[in-house]
Amino acid sequence: MPTITEKIISAHLIEGEMKRGEPIAIHIDQTLTQDATGTMAYLQLEAMGVEQVKTELSISYVDHNTLQSGFENADDHKYLQTVAMKHGIRFSRPGNGICHQVHLERFAIPGKTLLGSDSHTPTAGGMGALAIGAGGLDVACAMAGRAFHLNMPHIINVKLHGALTKGVSSKDIILKVLQLLSVKGGVGSVIEYSGDGVASLSIPQRATITNMGAELGATTSVFPSDEVTKDFLKKQQREEDWVEIVADEDAVYDKVIEIDLTTLEPMIAMPHSPDNVLPISEVLGLKVDQVAIGSCTNSSYRDMMSVANILQGKTIDENVSLVISPGSRQVLNMIAQNGGLSAMISAGARILESTCGPCIGMGQSPITNALSLRTFNRNFYGRSGTLSAKVCLVSPETAAASALAGYIVDPRTIDYTIPNDPETFAIDDSMVIVPDAQTAAETEVIRGPNIKPLPINTPLDDVIDKKVMIKVEDNITTDHIAPAGAKVLPYRSNIEKISEFIFMNVKASFHDDCLQHGGGYIVAGANYGQGSSREHAALAPMYLGIKAVIAKSFARIHRANLINFGILPLTFVNEKDYDTIDEMDELKIEHLSDLQVDVPLQVQNITKGYYFEVAHHLTALDIETIKAGGTLNLIRQHQ
Ligand code: F3S
Repeated sequence: MPTITEKIISAHLIEGEMKRGEPIAIHIDQTLTQDATGTMAYLQLEAMGVEQVKTELSISYVDHNTLQSGFENADDHKYLQTVAMKHGIRFSRPGNGICHQVHLERFAIPGKTLLGSDSHTPTAGGMGALAIGAGGLDVACAMAGRAFHLNMPHIINVKLHGALTKGVSSKDIILKVLQLLSVKGGVGSVIEYSGDGVASLSIPQRATITNMGAELGATTSVFPSDEVTKDFLKKQQREEDWVEIVADEDAVYDKVIEIDLTTLEPMIAMPHSPDNVLPISEVLGLKVDQVAIGSCTNSSYRDMMSVANILQGKTIDENVSLVISPGSRQVLNMIAQNGGLSAMISAGARILESTCGPCIGMGQSPITNALSLRTFNRNFYGRSGTLSAKVCLVSPETAAASALAGYIVDPRTIDYTIPNDPETFAIDDSMVIVPDAQTAAETEVIRGPNIKPLPINTPLDDVIDKKVMIKVEDNITTDHIAPAGAKVLPYRSNIEKISEFIFMNVKASFHDDCLQHGGGYIVAGANYGQGSSREHAALAPMYLGIKAVIAKSFARIHRANLINFGILPLTFVNEKDYDTIDEMDELKIEHLSDLQVDVPLQVQNITKGYYFEVAHHLTALDIETIKAGGTLNLIRQHQ
């Protein structure tokens, strides 16, 4: 009676019992990093003194920040390449593609565990892998051969029936799930797909769905590994990687949702949250200023060919800027060879590199007050780089059709040819550099001036008596905390510099206030730290002296990052206490050297003269980690 999730976890279980919600530890087979989180992960790996990684496969991708308008990014890329060669990690060069697209094509294996320092690592769940996003330090620990700790997830079953109709895509399926479950609906859960509709979806279509499971807050999402998976692997010339993995007939789920693909209509996520979803029919005719197609959600060969077929022989509206980033060099090569690329260029599209590009705010910020239609997975406030822009998330079909019209149209109403899946994929792994174990020891790790030493926290004090540096509302994302974009990303390996940007679009004085008061507390609403896995959102506040975050609730990866860097993640026992606290209130927590599992803490609001209770939900290992001042200190203590 096991589910797919239980089958994979049970094959990798190192500690704990598979009781839902209880702490477990699992073995990790594969890891991936990308450049925005990778430099920290490898600095941490070096700090652990690991010579060669212990995983079956570890890959360092460069896809987020490939602009080279100064020396910083080039320095980072060279550091990533040389540190990879020294420690037994493959290096996917800039231009080879977006980490999740390339991993799906060339490296993801059904039944394996994959830990990635990117929140959309669950993309590989489309292949039947248990693929989890985490902070860079957790990934560094996995590369060092340490177990990954998590709570045994609940399992939500999404049953798909029938088949998609022309103009409706797998993006519309996941937008429908987001409408049903919300950005908090997957917290603590794996979303497992089943039903007769699964067989009608290709692997890239399934991967679009598991990719955006991250937006549900889910631990991961997973599809069965079936004949479709086998066929995809065969076309990628790695049929030997296939194993069948399906849930047992009588598998037990915590919740079941049914979706009829045959009657599903195109959907759209309106600003500024991926769960603000409407049927496209409710917004038809809205004027569009920019259309951006690509990202790890929608940049497969099939997505690109759907777009090319819609654009074929036509010209985009004169008031629309259309940018397209194919997801990988494989995809770009294939559409270059079959004429798809030419159809896009002829229609007026601007073709970008096979990288994250506008998804991470690296260029292509839209015009002031723009309506920007994107095939990406996130439309958080400010992420496009234009604060006044309204970003909506749609399928490639809706995006391309609307780029032609200049306003939002229903792609079911236009005439185009649905692309066939290719007979074979164009295989060329020459942009993935494989380390040589013979020469690894002599490899020099090149550190340009942009690679700064890793800041390390101090052990937890018995008393935290400090002021509230900032109070924020519900659903604060890691983009609010540590913004991305071309001005910030070059400093991802320079925490002192990146700390100047923390909360810059929320409270401009946050950095200076922290310096003036020696840090303090962050007070937050529900789902604090949702979104990207970037650990800079924990590491830079730690550097600025933040000791504890008191929130109504936390997003999983960010909470783990806080613990990894020795910051206390506390939750209000009575959420009404949130309302009574103001910025710059002085809060005091005592007796922290006695911190114990399941024992709540008393917080004294010294400014207002009252006490309130907070919970911490920390495991014994979490408490040991926080007391040590973070995971790296703990590892050093044990060495
Ligand atoms: Fe890159 Fe955007 Fe995906 S930043 S990894 S394309 S979510």
